[in-house]
Amino acid sequence: MKNSEGLCRAIREEGLIIQLLDGELPPTEEHKVLTHLRTCHECLGLTADLLYTDERLKLMFARQEERQDQVQKKKPGTRFLLEVDKLPIGKNVDRDLLDEDGTLLIAAGTELTQKIIDRLKARGIEKLAIEPTDVDSEDTQEQIEAPGADLKQLETYLAESGPEPVVSQFVRHQCCKTLENSFKSLEEDGILDLGEVHEGAQQVTEEVLSRPQLTMTLADLILVDPSLHAHATNVLILFLMIARAIGHPAQLIRDHATSALLHDVGRIVLRRTSTVSGIAKSTENEDLEHTEAGYSYLWNLGGINESALKMVMNHHEKYDGSGYPRGLKGTMLSDWDQILILANTYDNLTWNRETGVRSGFHKALQVLIQDGSKYVRKGVIRAVVQTLGHYPPGTWVRMNNGEIGLVTRAHPGSPLKPQVSLFYDQSGRRHSRPRSIDLTHNQNAYITGSVQVRTTA
Ligand SMILES: [Fe+2]
Ligand SMILES: [Fe+2]
Repeated sequence: MKNSEGLCRAIREEGLIIQLLDGELPPTEEHKVLTHLRTCHECLGLTADLLYTDERLKLMFARQEERQDQVQKKKPGTRFLLEVDKLPIGKNVDRDLLDEDGTLLIAAGTELTQKIIDRLKARGIEKLAIEPTDVDSEDTQEQIEAPGADLKQLETYLAESGPEPVVSQFVRHQCCKTLENSFKSLEEDGILDLGEVHEGAQQVTEEVLSRPQLTMTLADLILVDPSLHAHATNVLILFLMIARAIGHPAQLIRDHATSALLHDVGRIVLRRTSTVSGIAKSTENEDLEHTEAGYSYLWNLGGINESALKMVMNHHEKYDGSGYPRGLKGTMLSDWDQILILANTYDNLTWNRETGVRSGFHKALQVLIQDGSKYVRKGVIRAVVQTLGHYPPGTWVRMNNGEIGLVTRAHPGSPLKPQVSLFYDQSGRRHSRPRSIDLTHNQNAYITGSVQVRTTA
């Protein structure tokens, strides 16, 4: 095994990270590489270029830490066993697969290939064990009671002392308010002032385009308001950030912004029709018909280019053809369609209908990473990960010293090292004032995992 310097060279020149992620390293070597990555941030930084590697590395780190902490192995009886011959080739495993002694062989998120199966067989491994779900499952992950973690208070905190947002609070709320008034006027009087909506969308767009040094923050999203206009404003901001990350020309981004903001206008059009006709439409029908209704309405209004109009029509389509209204698939969906599909899907996934607030940011991103190819091509998912990091703003995380904090800003080049506001100490007591740390500037602090916070007043 190589020394530290040799490891640095092997990681940079020989693709040791790829072997690590492909499960090709023996357990002892894997342990050494992971230990090295914990302290060598230059090597860790290199992995940021590799699509999806950070999530797998994170899981490997967590597993390693858990092993070091607990030492003792879980009882064999608590695991399910899978036959190697029956593993589904081409599928991504959603939980770590171990040998019968509890050594990690295939990390969660790895795509099962014939090569991996052949390698297991060559090592005489016929069965794999699955860890019990209490470690990996997002649903059963660590939960903490956090008085004061109320999202309204968070919004105040973010406005007063959070990270500088990409889109200023004034411009964001003005855009949201303009859309609210426009939707109201459309529903009540059948009139939409497209010029005003366009103005609101362009102001947001100019701020995103003119501040390329600033990255996604939690303060860029409207957290508490469950309304359609707040959702649309969030979707516009996500849309712009993803399009910027992909590198689309500024003028084309401007040309598509108004449509992104108006992507759900068809819902208001249908509600107006119901009001006029006196025939109420079911929520299900509104869901199914709003994309075409929005497209037709904006087409008749004029002033929006065809590519931007099609985004409105296609924002519930999916890359695998399982979306609606027309079941378009693959390259039948433009890049703009796909960016809007993901921006809209992400915001919808973070929306908790039971509590009436936006949460579950980390879980929503996991869904996109695992199932994203259903929705869009991989390059767009990569741009989303780049925009949001692996711990998207809004994710509650536990640090390696036990403190609990909220991710407030993503760093595209360092997805595992966002900016975090630390709210709670190791024993769950709230700090009198949150302390903000930027993990890219702090070599010793790192995130050990996300936590669910039960928000109480
Ligand atoms: Fe929609
Ligand atoms: Fe939507």
